Amino acid sequence: MEHCHCEERYESHELVECIANALDARDPYTGNHSRRVSDMACMLCRYLGLSEQETQTIHIAAHLHDIGKIGIPDAILCKPGRLDDREWGIMKDHPKIGAEILCTSPHFAEIGKIIQHHHERYDGKGYPNSSELDYIPLGARIIAVCDSIDAMASARAYRKALPLDTCRSEIEKNIGTMYDPQIAMTALTHWDELTAMYREENENSYKISIDIVP
Ligand SMILES: [Fe+2]
Ligand SMILES: [Fe+2]
Repeated sequence: MEHCHCEERYESHELVECIANALDARDPYTGNHSRRVSDMACMLCRYLGLSEQETQTIHIAAHLHDIGKIGIPDAILCKPGRLDDREWGIMKDHPKIGAEILCTSPHFAEIGKIIQHHHERYDGKGYPNSSELDYIPLGARIIAVCDSIDAMASARAYRKALPLDTCRSEIEKNIGTMYDPQIAMTALTHWDELTAMYREENENSYKISIDIVP
């Protein structure tokens, strides 16, 4: 599939992709996660009818949304299994660390704010600033939906990828609690286009497994 082209506003777009690739390379269990979330976020912005400028900002934020994981120790980030409560508490710092990294440049302050809030929930039960509900940026709400889809549709160290139909009903079930209703409904309306990349990936791995049969 074609990747989003959001170079116009951010000449440093390619550099952003390289930094995001560095994070994906460090975490063996979420390879290409940032790339898939940014592609989905870009599509969702267009389905929502956002301006080109908003779309580009959110696309870049999606590339970098988990960049704060660079500050999480390997023993936790690369743990081959579920995290305990203490480890989970440390992992939950990654949106704040990411925002601190980005906000050192005034040019990236808006993107930093989106990153800071990408784990907020619509009902205020997310982190880190659940009391400031009005303050969840639109980009953070869009990334939250795409991040969840990719987390479910990709394999993890402790479980296989979930079927796309299951992912779809999980998003549907959590409309208005975890997800902004307008954004989640738009994702469901365009579900097949939005999740085409997972079908393509499955087809490719099927082809590869056929090819390697001697
Ligand atoms: Fe995250
Ligand atoms: Fe993520």
